[in-house]
Amino acid sequence: DEDPRIHGIKTKIGVVPNFPKPGIMFQDITPLLLDPKAFKDAVDLFVERYKDKSISVVAGIEARGFIFGPPIALAIGAKFVPLRKPRKLPGEVIFEEYVLEYGSDCLEMHLGAVEPGERVLVVDDLIATGGTLCAAMNLLERVGAVVVECACLIELPDLKGRGRLNGKPLYVLVEYQ
Ligand code: PRP
Repeated sequence: DEDPRIHGIKTKIGVVPNFPKPGIMFQDITPLLLDPKAFKDAVDLFVERYKDKSISVVAGIEARGFIFGPPIALAIGAKFVPLRKPRKLPGEVIFEEYVLEYGSDCLEMHLGAVEPGERVLVVDDLIATGGTLCAAMNLLERVGAVVVECACLIELPDLKGRGRLNGKPLYVLVEYQ
């Protein structure tokens, strides 16, 4: 009993083999953005789930969490906080490093953007290994926020990223096997 809108969303996610590197099946959400009905359906599904959950912050992960996070934040009356790659934010930041398949990366957040006790939804386009969402949650919890849930359009369940979220709930619209 899947929501009928999910099927239309799935048809608008492109799979590009061997991009950006050999062996990677890239999930391309840009076709979804070209279809205002499917894009709105995706945002609406999140808004319906989160509108009555007393969420005051939507935290979006650079870069594609910046596409889906802001329309959700506006619709539920929450502020939007960008979690950015290093050296992009001008103010005082806290940062969290995380390990990638090759090398490491880092997310930064402005200090003071989120107050202790605020209820936060973390938004990204996709969860693969879960390292990025785990770093995002750590940042928010270090400033005393309550992460209510993480929300992504796409999950790659084979990579078992869900298991890295310390039991935090994860909601996804589409699984890609
Ligand atoms: C992708 C995706 C997520 C992350 C998920 O971003 O948009 O943010 O990888 O991977 P993980 O679950 O294994 O951590 P990417 O690293 O391609 O960065 P970009 O959005 O800035 O291009």
